[in-house]
Amino acid sequence: MQLFLDTASVTEIRTMWEIGILDGVTTNPTLVAKEGRTFESVLREICDLGVPSVSAEVVATDTEGMLREGRHLRGFHPAIYVKIPMTPAGLRATRILAGEGTRVNMTLVFSANQALLAAKVGATYVSPFIGRLDDQGQDGMELVRDIVTIYRNYRVPTKVLVASVRHPMHVVEGAKVGADIATMPYTVMEKLVQHPLTDLGLARFLKDWEKVPKG
Ligand code: G3P
Repeated sequence: MQLFLDTASVTEIRTMWEIGILDGVTTNPTLVAKEGRTFESVLREICDLGVPSVSAEVVATDTEGMLREGRHLRGFHPAIYVKIPMTPAGLRATRILAGEGTRVNMTLVFSANQALLAAKVGATYVSPFIGRLDDQGQDGMELVRDIVTIYRNYRVPTKVLVASVRHPMHVVEGAKVGADIATMPYTVMEKLVQHPLTDLGLARFLKDWEKVPKG
């Protein structure tokens, strides 16, 4: 399973990229707004780190505007995946952009039928937002399971990208049901690394090492 960071913070991305566990980055307008810098300067720095997959979202809501922004983003850097919302205009824009060879990450997906449509128009990634479904009292992981099953049934090449991840169990469950990618906040990725028994075990090893005669 590929692990992505869901952030526009260059500092966070650099940290995980340098450790070597990061496969990609997803951004959205909310995350970019938190940085207090222009979209292009943030995007430039992220792409320059060498991360191979960077999702950048269009903000137009009409097909023509999405095409204009999508083509601009596609030309910005080879790592860019254009993020397009699941709307009728977004489906139309995705079909056209995918036909031109642009990799599209279809976002704001909340149902299996929406995922079927994203695949039909040639999206490279489909992004079910599982945390937001959980927040509504619906089982987000059930949606991921359904999408994975449906895509397998029809040998759909679109990759399932688990988005709106809230905690490490979302990552584990996503991997168990066969999702291709999980994108998560920095704090969740940190928790993938940590375990209190690892810290305790290391502390004990170091303490015991002090008793070993040094010569
Ligand atoms: O980037 C899309 C998605 O991961 C957003 O997550 O936490 O705002 O629901 P969240």
